[in-house]
Amino acid sequence: MKFEKRILVTGGAGFIGSHVVRLLVRKYPHYQIVNFDKLTYAGNLENLKDVDTAENYSFFKGDIVTASDVKEVFEQFNITDVIHLAAESHVDRSIEGPMDFVMTNVVGTVNLLQQAKASWKEEKEHVFHHVSTDEVYGSLTDEGYFTEQTSYDPRSPYSASKASSDHFVSAYHHTYGLPVKMSNCSNNYGSHHFPEKLIPLMIHNIVQKKPLPVYGKGENVRDWLWVEDHARAIDVIFHNGKVGESYNVGGLNEWTNIDLVRYLCRLMDRKLNRAEGESEELITYVTDRKGHDLRYAIDATKLETELGWKPSITFEEGLENTVDWYLANNDWVEKVTSGTYRTYYSKMYENR
Ligand code: NAD
Ligand code: DAU
Repeated sequence: MKFEKRILVTGGAGFIGSHVVRLLVRKYPHYQIVNFDKLTYAGNLENLKDVDTAENYSFFKGDIVTASDVKEVFEQFNITDVIHLAAESHVDRSIEGPMDFVMTNVVGTVNLLQQAKASWKEEKEHVFHHVSTDEVYGSLTDEGYFTEQTSYDPRSPYSASKASSDHFVSAYHHTYGLPVKMSNCSNNYGSHHFPEKLIPLMIHNIVQKKPLPVYGKGENVRDWLWVEDHARAIDVIFHNGKVGESYNVGGLNEWTNIDLVRYLCRLMDRKLNRAEGESEELITYVTDRKGHDLRYAIDATKLETELGWKPSITFEEGLENTVDWYLANNDWVEKVTSGTYRTYYSKMYENR
């Protein structure tokens, strides 16, 4: 075989997946990186145009819910490892319609586990890395952090589907000895983030001078991590993490939503040469998200001490970099929110 490993990255055309694919393709020319993606509204091959001609990159359009697609890609590329990111990822959509989340996040994950179990005979030679979220731990009050020992307490249909998939991954390790690794990360931000999530939606609306919808009183807290630091963490855990274990990923960077939106407004007033305070006037408090988790905060001590990972940049640097990317890539925003994507996008976001 020409390549030392043939890694199936599911969801590689999405936000985090595209950063993982880019990192792996560039860093490991001796690995073949097979991007397996259904290209839902959230998946866009534009995200990978800087690496898609690399010799060690391949794309396979398929659905993890369809077992025959999964079998075909495993057999065609003789897959040795999986990094599983494909998912329905947006909490608001899961509240509107949970069933897609059950199908992709639960059934799709079990399909992948089944195929890996069927294809892999010698467990030492393989890794199934499942990428998950801190939302499986539920919601914190003002104090404390999520550790790997925190009990699962998912509270939205999205987090319930991710928690279920985590349990299946763990069950396949304990029952069948499948060589799994898991990571649970806090909120990511950065380039190529679909503009339905808080940060890219606010950037988009500030540019367009549209209302900035802040749910409830804006007091909910999220712990933000630069997406490229998450991709680096996945690389480290995939290679050096212990089989059967999970690792929390986060950068101790908590912000209330309203403080974050105000910070973005000030930053973008400067970038867009607007009067100080102009964008803040767009802030509009809207009806709260149903069952809105109050606070997430990750303790990543295990990842830092055992595997030597730490975030590479500050939030201020990362946010400025992100805003610069969106301002320079308006054509990307137009593409992902128009044409075939329009129907998905408009249902929830057109009038915001
Ligand atoms: P995303 O919505 O941007 O991308 C998801 C990708 O999966 C898309 O390319 C989509 O086309 C693909 N996909 C969806 N359903 C599919 C299916 N049935 N078959 C094949 N491909 C399918 O998501 P993201 O924000 O990049 O998140 C990636 C993963 O990381 C998810 O598992 C998510 O739960 C997890 N995660 C996300 C965050 C975050 O802040 N975004 C934080 C922690 C963990
Ligand atoms: O914590 C990790 C999770 O972070 C990931 O598992 C999810 O896939 C990812 O979408 C993200 O979930 P959140 O619900 O935290 O992200 P979102 O960007 O949707 O919202 C962030 C916060 O901002 C949340 O408290 C809700 C609020 N919000 C969001 C939107 C879209 C608003 O106030 N207004 C908005 O318009």
